[in-house]
Amino acid sequence: MRSKFCCITTMLLLLLSLAMAYKFLWQGEVAPASDGRTAILMPASERDLVLKEMRGFLQAVQTILSATQEEAMQRVVESARQAGMVAREGMPGSLVGRLPAGFKKLGFDTHRRFDNLALDAEQLGDPQHSLQQLAELMANCVTCHAAYRIDLLDE
Ligand code: HEC
Repeated sequence: MRSKFCCITTMLLLLLSLAMAYKFLWQGEVAPASDGRTAILMPASERDLVLKEMRGFLQAVQTILSATQEEAMQRVVESARQAGMVAREGMPGSLVGRLPAGFKKLGFDTHRRFDNLALDAEQLGDPQHSLQQLAELMANCVTCHAAYRIDLLDE
């Protein structure tokens, strides 16, 4: 009798862990939005962090465009690197848990592409190549903005 009870408890705990893993790693904290996109729900403090990262992306894009025109490849390297994986440092776990898997994948890929752009700009010094990489990575900006927005969660 006791072992049966144990078994049921273990199963329930296992199911609970699976459900939590699904929610935390895959689904995130989302709701359908009025404009047909998926709204990611977060408190203002976390939205501020995401939007700050976004303005960093925009800044990097502008600097890369103007620096390639001047063939100032060192500036291209520096600004691309700032928008690379280092930009993700300091993101709280609570925020990461709210992000759906598709969003995390696109965000990760965008940072990785900025790092690649920096590496190639450093090694090849070819403005045309950097511009092509920028055009390709900006498809991620378009895709993600078309799919997701951020709505506020009451704190
Ligand atoms: C993984 C998804 C994702 C990617 C990739 C992404 N963004 Fe965003 N971005 C968002 C979301 C979500 C918002 C909030 C939009 C909303 O709530 O309507 C946003 C907002 C912004 C904003 C507004 C910032 C503010 O202060 O209001 C800018 C600018 C921006 N993104 C630029 C970019 C640029 C440039 C790129 C590509 C280099 C990019 N984003 C890539 C998801 C993404």
